[in-house]
Amino acid sequence: MSSDLDALRKTVISCIKCELSKSRINAVPGHGSAKTEVIFIGEAPGRNEDLQGVPFVGTAGKILSEALAYAGFTREDVYITNVVKCRPPNNRRPNTQELDSCRNYLQKELDIIRPKIICILGNTAFGSLLNGNAITKNRGKIIQRDGQLYFVTIHPAAVIYNQELRQVLKDDLKMLFDVLDKIKKGIAIEINE
Ligand code: URA
Ligand code: SF4
Repeated sequence: MSSDLDALRKTVISCIKCELSKSRINAVPGHGSAKTEVIFIGEAPGRNEDLQGVPFVGTAGKILSEALAYAGFTREDVYITNVVKCRPPNNRRPNTQELDSCRNYLQKELDIIRPKIICILGNTAFGSLLNGNAITKNRGKIIQRDGQLYFVTIHPAAVIYNQELRQVLKDDLKMLFDVLDKIKKGIAIEINE
């Protein structure tokens, strides 16, 4: 892990910038490789993540890891983080104030790693980063904003409620890594927005 990421992780662990610091057990900084070319961004830690201080280690995390494996990768190959680093009570969606308080940490993770593409997992990250909505309709899209590429897909937790989405997530991640491969080889990709 790079020293810059390490310093950031220490700042996040002791952060008390918003109300979520009062109810959390552990703040959950991003996890994975500093050398990755793709960052995955979810919503916020859940119960297991709050207990362990590591993102995507519960049921949704298993589903994400399974989809990564389908594309030929492990969670240690990439970097996984959330728009908000502390668990909201009862897993409610983070509110605007919490998103705004935490935004700078995500920005720093992106500035340090400088990924070739950012994979957005679900509506909360989509809304917060790109002002997007209707993830089911927009998943699979490649979006370019301010020179940064984004790939949009469903949140892994959606699979818990609709098993048909398991293969959708797997196929999307395969598509994402195919796109990344093309970017690295200088092959033109189709940008949707
Ligand atoms: N859901 C998320 O959005 N993030 C996690 O870290 C775990 C579950
Ligand atoms: Fe700090 Fe973000 Fe946790 Fe709020 S959610 S206390 S801003 S790390």
